[in-house]
Amino acid sequence: MNNQNNITPQINREGFSLNNSGNLEFDRCEITKLAQKYKTPCYVFSETIIRRKCRQYVNAFSKRNVDFEVIYAGKAFLVKAMCNILKGEGLSLDVSSGGELYTALSAGFPPEKIFFHGNNKSREEIEFALKEKIGTMMVDSEYELNLIEQIAESLNTKVGIILRVTPGVDTHTHKYIQTGQVDSKFGISIDRIPGFIKKILSKEHISYNGLHFHLGSQIFDLSSYVLAIKEMVKLMRKIKDLEGVDTLNLNLGGGLGVKYLESDLPPSTEYFVNLIVDNIENEVRKNNLTMPKILIEPGRSIVAEAGITLYTIGNIKEIPGVRKYLITDGGMADNPRPILYEAKYEGFLVNKIDNNLPEEVVTIAGKCCESGDILIKDLKLPSASVGDLFAVFTTGAYHYSMSSNYNRLPRPAVVLVNQGKDDVIVKKETYTDIARNDTIPEWFK
Ligand code: LLP
Repeated sequence: MNNQNNITPQINREGFSLNNSGNLEFDRCEITKLAQKYKTPCYVFSETIIRRKCRQYVNAFSKRNVDFEVIYAGKAFLVKAMCNILKGEGLSLDVSSGGELYTALSAGFPPEKIFFHGNNKSREEIEFALKEKIGTMMVDSEYELNLIEQIAESLNTKVGIILRVTPGVDTHTHKYIQTGQVDSKFGISIDRIPGFIKKILSKEHISYNGLHFHLGSQIFDLSSYVLAIKEMVKLMRKIKDLEGVDTLNLNLGGGLGVKYLESDLPPSTEYFVNLIVDNIENEVRKNNLTMPKILIEPGRSIVAEAGITLYTIGNIKEIPGVRKYLITDGGMADNPRPILYEAKYEGFLVNKIDNNLPEEVVTIAGKCCESGDILIKDLKLPSASVGDLFAVFTTGAYHYSMSSNYNRLPRPAVVLVNQGKDDVIVKKETYTDIARNDTIPEWFK
């Protein structure tokens, strides 16, 4: 699925092509037809791109002579069809709530390939996971370790655990999506781990399977991984010296950045994988340890660029000498990232892709009752009219999964496309769905 050369440079992204009639396609499906069929706003995911991204990780590791496991981070985007794709590609899955676990299991995802994250798993969630015999519990605190042991004992079962460590390493990303630093609500601080291992080894219903860290998300500068690997391998050495046990699994979390803007140049998956493998091999050799299995948990770098969102332009509001707003039929309810992280996006008018149209600078706004509901500020576009179709790039990760019903807006449909085929994988919500769980108190009746 190569981009065709006559496509305007702004749209020259993965998955886009022009058909014989000069209409724009995404994974070989004509975009205007998708909008007519599924209505806007609408999330569209390319199956071809998702699968290619999964394979990039698997292939990069396979070229190295190491034991590895690629664990997709479900928080980025998890619906049943996605679970099917992951299963087909041989990936494992990181879930961070009972809801994600339920989704995976009801799609027939193998429980032994599930890793359960979360910094405050409830008793019910832990019971659910252990009864379903999921592969690994990721332990975030001492409190949770005891709770898991207690529940495992009551169910007369044994579960493998991996400890989430805060390695004390800062990353260069938005502070809301940094997690590896000392002051974090996630994980156990690195210097407390050796004492912790002793407790784990004394427990009957838990087995020590390894260590985990996650530095943050949308990371371009990979030097923080190098630092964290150094610290983690030192910790593995300490554990071996103190308790005589090898750490069999080292999980590096997720975090690899993606291309939102044309100017974003994230490291390639292969470069990232080679860097972590090289560094782990070096450190392990220096510390005279056995090579652990390498686990990673990519979320964004698998789905972000596989997704686009389609909107229809409604109201066009020009404040002379100040700004021209193009108001879409979606906004912060389907994409809360601009208002949360000041995230930047690019997009284009699907029905006006001719290079020669005169352009103007506009602001793309959402329809929510919130002044901050701006999707893209100061974007150059051909002059827009009411009814134009607007597409935003790179909306596959943390969009549908973070969407809301603010203003009681129904969540958009999610559509999967693959080489000319299209089908809905999440139906558009209806007004009935919106009010489905509302009830009237007894005393109103
Ligand atoms: N593993 C753990 C333990 C995580 O907490 C996360 C993401 C990942 C893996 C996947 O990281 P990724 O490869 O996607 O960077 N809502 C924010 C991102 C929050 C990330 C939370 N944890 C955003 O929209 O930017």
